[in-house]
Amino acid sequence: MSIYSFTDLDKNEKITNLAPTWKEPLVRSIDHPKKETKILVVDDSISVRLALQDGLEKLGYQVLTAENGKKAIEILKDTLPDLILSDVYMPEMDGLELCATLHGNPLFSHIPFVVMSTENDAGNMRQMMTHGAAAFIIKPFNIEQLTMTLNKIFSYEFMLLLKENERLDGEHKLLLAGITSLVKALEARDQYTRGHSERVSRILAGLVEYSGGSEPTIERALIAGRLHDIGKIGIRDNVLLKPDKLSDDEFEHIQQHPSIGASIIKTIPSILDILPVVYSHHERMDGRGYPQGLIGQSIPLTARMTSVADTYDALTSDRPYRKGMEHGKAIDVIGKASGSQLCPDTVRLFFEWCSC
Ligand SMILES: [Fe+2]
Repeated sequence: MSIYSFTDLDKNEKITNLAPTWKEPLVRSIDHPKKETKILVVDDSISVRLALQDGLEKLGYQVLTAENGKKAIEILKDTLPDLILSDVYMPEMDGLELCATLHGNPLFSHIPFVVMSTENDAGNMRQMMTHGAAAFIIKPFNIEQLTMTLNKIFSYEFMLLLKENERLDGEHKLLLAGITSLVKALEARDQYTRGHSERVSRILAGLVEYSGGSEPTIERALIAGRLHDIGKIGIRDNVLLKPDKLSDDEFEHIQQHPSIGASIIKTIPSILDILPVVYSHHERMDGRGYPQGLIGQSIPLTARMTSVADTYDALTSDRPYRKGMEHGKAIDVIGKASGSQLCPDTVRLFFEWCSC
């Protein structure tokens, strides 16, 4: 079994459902903050609960109610509200204890907690602010005052989300720039590799798109294709650049490039999902591949796809000792390798993609 099964993306063996399930895009989608916003009102006074429920529902919020902190925690086991609006003094569990309990629990600490209190309760309010309360509103208040407080909080949360998205987007761009540099560093050493990674990348992305992959999935395929041979950075020049047949020792050395590549990719958490491509693209269906000698469907699907793309490009590219094959001849060779070296389903997909 693959030691990288945690990133094994593909359990689906049917070619018609072949789109790999790469990680979805890094940037989260942003909805308008008020849409379907749930507010949990916690107050021991039934008239306050009903008045707030009525007012907030008229403003378009969904409202849940609880008569004390204990009941609120029970509700939280099933439903996560977007905001909690809580009284201070309540039987069984008061607002102070509820606020401190939620603040100490990572499942709930992100929910903005608004305290409803009276003017002469400054001490408790200060204490609740230190326990993570986001704001307080002084009783008695009208619905307009409450709306202003909620708008302020939700727009603050919204801005935080926007900032987080900007940060992730920036990280993503930096990552792509880093990948380009890595590939360029490899290609600067090896004339054969020059353009090979890009061509494999385009074929792999084409196969993923043809099999119904989403836009972000196609983007992951492009990255995976570009980096599939990145481990060759760790291969000695006299082996990597040797124009003649490799000796057994040299062949053994070049066979280390998937493992070297995997050790590089493992240090970049945001592209861990392409690890199977980098590590397993030289596995063969008959188990005679490397580095693990995986057999058949135990080879990750994305690696089987890359293997076909890699083989086609290797056959059709010029080498110092031979000219690249014509497309038709390469297709024949790939057809003959189907089942032994290459995955028959993936070969069929490649043929269909080529002819469309
Ligand atoms: Fe390779």
